[in-house]
Amino acid sequence: MTFRNRFTELAGVEHPIMQGGMQWVGTAGLVAAVANAGALGMLTALTQPTPEALMREIARCREMTDRPFGVNLTILPTLTPPPYAEYRDAIIENGIGIVETAGHRPAEHVEHFRRCGVRVIHKCTSVRHALSAERMGVDAVSIDGFECAGHPGEDDVPGLVLIPIAADALSIPVIASGGIADGRGLVAALALGATAVNMGTRFCATREAPIHDRFKRALVDADERDTDLIFRSYRNTARVARNAVSRAVRAIEAEGRPFDDVANLVKGSRGREGLASGNLDHGIWTAGMVQGLIRDIPTVAELVSRIMAQARTLAAARIAEILQ
Ligand SMILES: Cc1cc2nc3c(=O)[nH]c(=O)nc-3n(C[C@H](O)[C@H](O)[C@H](O)COP(=O)(O)O)c2cc1C
Repeated sequence: MTFRNRFTELAGVEHPIMQGGMQWVGTAGLVAAVANAGALGMLTALTQPTPEALMREIARCREMTDRPFGVNLTILPTLTPPPYAEYRDAIIENGIGIVETAGHRPAEHVEHFRRCGVRVIHKCTSVRHALSAERMGVDAVSIDGFECAGHPGEDDVPGLVLIPIAADALSIPVIASGGIADGRGLVAALALGATAVNMGTRFCATREAPIHDRFKRALVDADERDTDLIFRSYRNTARVARNAVSRAVRAIEAEGRPFDDVANLVKGSRGREGLASGNLDHGIWTAGMVQGLIRDIPTVAELVSRIMAQARTLAAARIAEILQ
């Protein structure tokens, strides 16, 4: 039994599973492992310090896999934006056929990618943004529910509600994102009308993820309550693993203080240093509620084949059982 559908056709992959962009984590080793496992991996453009470094990372990934993979371009509301157009051109010129866009005002980039024949999956957190991405001409949307790691938006609608509403409202394929770790999540997402799942946190707890083992163990040890929502008061909510820094940020926000007062605590370089050194409390690091479902640190190939095997069993045997 295969799960071929509009997503697998669009992405040119075997399984309806995608690994979303992950700052500091979405590098060539992990992405090639995802591609070799038959799923869609995404390099994270902004993890590379320059567009030239991104080109080298694309080449490095191609040395490890001959299967398709994509690149995530996350457009952040920062005061000093990175050279997005140059990253975008690096993606196009290096023959990447599919991208995941995320973040603020993607229209300019989406139009450019489309003109150059690159397929676009836009990630968003609400049905209204998904509809506007559809009008923009994207090929698919992935929708992050409130459970997700990273930026869940400000509406707080979980996937169980968000995904079927999006699937009803849109004609392009919908990819369910947030809170998925196993075959149960995949079958549930398909039942809700999605064509595939997008996972982040679960892929962090794999052997190939380029982060210190202590973070992987922390994901295994944590439960579903061990995340914090930070930046709520700045209307840029982020779900991160609960640690000393996330607690400090929440305390500062509770006092009504401005972003400048947390900026030093949350800067990207601290998060990156922590992930590399294994210091769990050095900076903030992104993780979703789904950590409650993570119990081991398999290879990516083991993870993907386990998810597919469980999904097959569920879709066939269990549903027949339920229907008796
Ligand atoms: C460590 C980490 C870093 C992430 N960084 C990004 C990013 O830079 N851009 C982006 O669009 N999404 C980012 N995400 C979100 C994921 O792509 C995905 O949407 C999310 O993890 C799905 O929720 P889940 O973790 O419950 O599977 C990140 C997630 C994690 C776990």
